[in-house]
Amino acid sequence: MSGFSADWLTLREPYDLRARNREVIAAVAASVGALPSVHIVDLACGTGATVRALTGHLPSRQIWQLADNDLGLLGRAKAMALADNVKVTAVPLDLNRDLEAALDGAIDLVTTSAFLDLVSKSWLDRLTTEVAARSIPFYAALTYDGRIDISPNDRTDASVVAAVNKHQATDKGFGLALGPEAAGYAIASFEHLGYTVTHRPSDWTIGPDDCDIQMEIFAGWAGAAREIGTLSLAETASWLTRRRTDVAAGTSSLRVGHVDLFAAPTGRR
Ligand SMILES: C[S@@+](CC[C@H](N)C(=O)[O-])C[C@H]1O[C@@H](n2cnc3c(N)ncnc32)[C@H](O)[C@@H]1O
Repeated sequence: MSGFSADWLTLREPYDLRARNREVIAAVAASVGALPSVHIVDLACGTGATVRALTGHLPSRQIWQLADNDLGLLGRAKAMALADNVKVTAVPLDLNRDLEAALDGAIDLVTTSAFLDLVSKSWLDRLTTEVAARSIPFYAALTYDGRIDISPNDRTDASVVAAVNKHQATDKGFGLALGPEAAGYAIASFEHLGYTVTHRPSDWTIGPDDCDIQMEIFAGWAGAAREIGTLSLAETASWLTRRRTDVAAGTSSLRVGHVDLFAAPTGRR
């Protein structure tokens, strides 16, 4: 399992859901709470995690347009069970090429999750400019911010984390990615465009019993470290072996830093 497979998104969703910041969700809900129905565009929807996380917080009549370029994920999102008054349309779209098409029409809210760290500075400039030109509120959950804290400590953790963060800043299909800089850059950009931004941490907290996700994360990080190449293959392999041993022994836990933000156009709503 790797990248954005449905299996990986399913494995991480409960941790994402628990991590999503309640104050930020409350700000999102308050911004559209008075509307009789709400039209939302979710960018890079995957299997629809943001719909599942937000639907209970929004006015009962909801129309969601779900945009992604992965047809398999989009198919799962379209098929999810929802209340009768929640309508979902799947929009197959390459957001790098066709972002503006995703924002066509009357939209009350744009959302995304686990996505902004993948995009480049110039693409994020394009997104914030297009959203602000339409005066739309914007919610972005679970943007990775570079903080990783693993327990128990291991002598190679810092080198692996440095490699992971370097890997996060490589091209993910939008040019060189902002990676850990993305949330700060998005917050500053929206503020510069006259938005008021509520932002809070939304860290994954993963405990000793959460073995499957730890195994998956550590394997992914070892792969990233191998690609970056600052550690020898042997160092990376023995780090992964030690980590797997701790997970199997039920002594491993970790925190992975994320940021949630809600940007509201000033003077609207
Ligand atoms: C980490 S997943 C997050 C999915 C979902 N938002 C969630 O929180 O579970 C990143 C998503 O970005 C989508 N994506 C990546 N590049 C894209 C592009 N160029 N156009 C549209 N979607 C893209 C992937 O298909 C994937 O669904």
